[in-house]
Amino acid sequence: MYAGAKAFFYALSRSALLKRLASRYGLATSESFASRFIAGETIETAIEASRRLQTQGFLITLDHLGEGVDTIDAAAAATREYVRLIDVIVASGIERNISIKLTQLGIDVDRATCIDNLRRILEPAARHQCYVRIDMEHSAYTERTIEIFETLWEQEYRNLGLALQAYLYRTENDVRRMNELGARVRLVKGAYKETAAVAYQRKDEVDAAFVRLARQLLDAGTYPAIATHDPGVIDQVRSHATTSGIASDRFEFQMLYGIRRDLQASLVASGYRMRIYVPFGRDWFPYFMRRLGERPANVGFVVKALFRER
Ligand code: FDA
Repeated sequence: MYAGAKAFFYALSRSALLKRLASRYGLATSESFASRFIAGETIETAIEASRRLQTQGFLITLDHLGEGVDTIDAAAAATREYVRLIDVIVASGIERNISIKLTQLGIDVDRATCIDNLRRILEPAARHQCYVRIDMEHSAYTERTIEIFETLWEQEYRNLGLALQAYLYRTENDVRRMNELGARVRLVKGAYKETAAVAYQRKDEVDAAFVRLARQLLDAGTYPAIATHDPGVIDQVRSHATTSGIASDRFEFQMLYGIRRDLQASLVASGYRMRIYVPFGRDWFPYFMRRLGERPANVGFVVKALFRER
């Protein structure tokens, strides 16, 4: 049932027609529809949301939504938007931290162009001490994403980190690879539809892998980001950190905007670092569909929101 829903929404997330309709329909027309999970369509609304979160004690990372770009021009436009985002972040005084996807920067078009685009973002980011995290996408991109990360790491870009997905069998090796570099990893369970040839399919297997990998990252001491809303997994990570004497400022938790706000607040109240991933922009449809697929109950929420404003 759970896997079925995930597959269904993943298929919808890839529909070009629905994506076009969604960005035309717009977030603004419904206060509590996708806007529960997305901090508006403009940089300004996202900055405002980030400011609010920071006053509540959260750290933030901003994601200008977009993915699956298939022309050089579109990749260049997305790159310019990110460069502009860095300027606006710096001017606004909010925390300097962004998340990006390589399919947004043209990895499907041409590897060299994608690397150039990433460098165009990393340079102003480094100048302004802005941290850049590369999101991890479908497994078709995993190796290429890690290789691009390593290329830039070798070129001394150190304001750069990477997400790895616990559901992939290969991640055990990738964690080792990143630990050897001393690179910072954001560990997530994984949001895409993957086959049993490459990924664990059962929730208990994914959870066990997550906890195992989180321990390896914590023990390596590279300031990992533990990105999950799963209270059981979070408890296991907390107790490993406590018993191993790893202080709460040696890692951070991360959660998505609008998801488990109760847990977000309680972790901050307990003295942990908690970073909220704040997505914004017109291209919100695929991101939103993945959030629906993770929790079918969200569909009920959406339907209710269509009839009743909160
Ligand atoms: P799980 O799905 O088991 O959910 C545990 C509990 O969390 C649920 O019982 C529910 O209470 C709550 N919950 C989870 N998802 C919810 C939702 N959509 N709506 C409401 N409640 C929900 N993935 C990826 O493949 N590449 C990436 O780069 C990233 N980046 C990323 C950054 C950050 C900061 C986070 C938190 C997550 C990602 N992800 C990601 C997404 C990740 O892979 C995963 O799909 C989601 O976090 C959901 O999995 P959980 O770990 O929360 O566990």
